[in-house]
Amino acid sequence: MAGKTMPELHLGLEGIYFAESSICKVDGTKGRLYYRGYSIGELAGYSDFEEVSYLLLHGELPTRSQLIAFRRRMRAERTLPNKIIGIIEEESVRSHPMHVLLTAVAALAAYDKEADVASPRANMEKSIRLISKAGSIVAAIGRLRSGKQYVRPDARLGHAENMLYMMNGTRPSSNAARLLDLMMVLHAEHSSNASTFSTIVTGATLSDLYSAVASGIATLKGPLHGGADERALQMLRDIKRPENTERYIDEALQNKRRVMGFGHRVYKTYDPRARIIRKILLDLSLESGEVKNLAQIALRAEKLMIERLGRSKGIWPNVDFFTGPVYVHIGIIPALFTPMFAASRMPGWCAHMLEYWEHSRLIRPLEYYTGQAGRRYVPLGRR
Ligand code: SDX
Repeated sequence: MAGKTMPELHLGLEGIYFAESSICKVDGTKGRLYYRGYSIGELAGYSDFEEVSYLLLHGELPTRSQLIAFRRRMRAERTLPNKIIGIIEEESVRSHPMHVLLTAVAALAAYDKEADVASPRANMEKSIRLISKAGSIVAAIGRLRSGKQYVRPDARLGHAENMLYMMNGTRPSSNAARLLDLMMVLHAEHSSNASTFSTIVTGATLSDLYSAVASGIATLKGPLHGGADERALQMLRDIKRPENTERYIDEALQNKRRVMGFGHRVYKTYDPRARIIRKILLDLSLESGEVKNLAQIALRAEKLMIERLGRSKGIWPNVDFFTGPVYVHIGIIPALFTPMFAASRMPGWCAHMLEYWEHSRLIRPLEYYTGQAGRRYVPLGRR
């Protein structure tokens, strides 16, 4: 529009602070990550997903009695209504697991008499329900889409352990359960990432928690965000053999294709979560079979991408790059990678929503209008 000075645009809201939060600090320059002030390295080393979920929701590590009570509440909420199991069974034959997860979580509201109760107590109860049931839903999707019978949850097992039990029908090894739990801790929270932001945008209209996290799930699906993990593994499989890695990556970069699992809006150095998962991968690269092959390709791709784009453009491995081979090792299929990410991120979404509601404000940015003005309607007969 002639004459009017154009305001400064912040495309993708890059670099814009939209709220205060005490939940998570992401230091993109130093490559550090803290949940409620505790470093991700310490939480990965000493904590577990249920305890980290409590920490994110309440802001403090639980005492022994608080943790026992929280675990009991989480385990009591694992059961899924029969109708939800039916939805999963019906949808899993034709939809991507992220669509099935979105439908199932949204449908859960119908079975929660407090779905639209906006009190902090009700929202904390709903958070526990959602964190617990999201794990059961993802496991049920994995089970039912393979044509097997639904397996009921086992309250004696830990959260990740029970997910693998419900997925496979047998108790997992302690190594597999611990690995999945660690991956869930690493994916549990990450400040105002796209899916957490869309969760908050929805809740900021004073919609309910089920609707808010449904927005988060829908947003996480995209390949620029949580969907990158499935695509990164597909790339490793497309490369086939370690000796093909350099040619494949260079050809992708020459054709301006994005290499999934690399780059980040905030980290301009190594993603600390990727560092932790890389250590697991080094062990897996000594194994045999497909996992060894995938791990060796991933480590070669990492080396080349850091040479090509790391130091020059600040494009480094992110949490999604090394995740795939670890999930393959645990027996999780690629189509379930992003649903697994969603089940892990549920405590982060809920914690941010409960915090934002303490000082809620509708989120409504502006867009700079560059269209035409003052146009007169032309009747159909004269067009
Ligand atoms: C997650 O925000 C979070 O915290 C997210 C997350 C969380 O825990 O919630 O950490 C999880 O989503 C991790 C990111 C997963 N996505 C991917 O791995 C997809 C591939 N990566 C990208 O598309 C990209 O790096 C983004 C989307 C993650 C970030 O992109 P930005 O900040 O918008 O940067 P950009 O797209 O403007 O890219 C800047 C330049 C471009 O080149 P030029 O046009 O300047 O020449 O870097 C290039 C891009 O082409 N680039 C890449 C690249 N990522 C950026 N080139 C090749 N491969 C890549 N992966």
